[in-house]
Amino acid sequence: MGVDQQQSIEKARLALENGGNVVVLTGSGVSAESNIPTFRGGGAETMAALWADFDPRTLATPEAFEADPGLVTRWYDWRRLMCLRAEPNPGHLALAALQKRVEGAGRRFTLLTQNVDGLHQRAGSTGVVELHGSIMRWRGVRSGAPAVLPEGPFDSYPPTLDNGELIRPSVVWFGEALPGDAVRAAGEVLRSCGVFLSIGTSSVVYPAAGFIDDARRAGAVTIEVNPESTAISGVVDICLRGAAGGVLPAFVGGG
Ligand code: OAD
Repeated sequence: MGVDQQQSIEKARLALENGGNVVVLTGSGVSAESNIPTFRGGGAETMAALWADFDPRTLATPEAFEADPGLVTRWYDWRRLMCLRAEPNPGHLALAALQKRVEGAGRRFTLLTQNVDGLHQRAGSTGVVELHGSIMRWRGVRSGAPAVLPEGPFDSYPPTLDNGELIRPSVVWFGEALPGDAVRAAGEVLRSCGVFLSIGTSSVVYPAAGFIDDARRAGAVTIEVNPESTAISGVVDICLRGAAGGVLPAFVGGG
């Protein structure tokens, strides 16, 4: 590790020790080391050959579901099973440990995630705000009734409720609104944020991409953890270059 990175890690550690309420925003990069592919580049080589030709950005839309619900639900079910088989990595575990420490010191800690894979919760994080829903919950397309999911794949695609109504994953598709309660919860904690950590997200999809501005308005120290530079790298106070599973345990403990 270079001297610069060591200094940045030390700065980040001090900010976390002293800095009031902590808000963490994660994106798909935090699950990359659990072998779940990210959205934009990276990880495609790990995808099964069957799905290699499909771009998530074309399947994750209401239009795609309407045009071919069998194809879209089969793809999401394949992703659901992949997430179920995946294990939380040292990055997820470090964030769960950080939450315990911060809350133990009487400060507020909130984890906002764009991920739908449920790995933060399985690592022990609590009160996670799921901005883009969860692939582990499915619902009737018209009634919103929750569906009971099989442990393995569905028997046939598209799957339905007993009454024949189609079901879909409770994830936010491109063009859909985010869950109102999640957006409100994020807005509220960002207003009193002392330290803001952005981890494994390219910061191009709103509203999450704008959280950095809310955090800066609140006067927070802002920290980014990402192996590559992103849309917000130029404005954060501390840039930690590297994989979440390597960098996070180094300065938040746990892992
Ligand atoms: P992206 O695929 O846009 O970005 C993933 C980020 O993770 C990139 O900046 C990578 O450099 C970084 N990365 C890769 N490996 C990493 C590692 N080991 N540790 C840390 N970072 C790593 O994914 P998101 O930013 O999550 O929305 O995308 C945001 C939203 O766009 C997703 O939630 C999804 C997508 O459209 C919906 O589905 C509504």
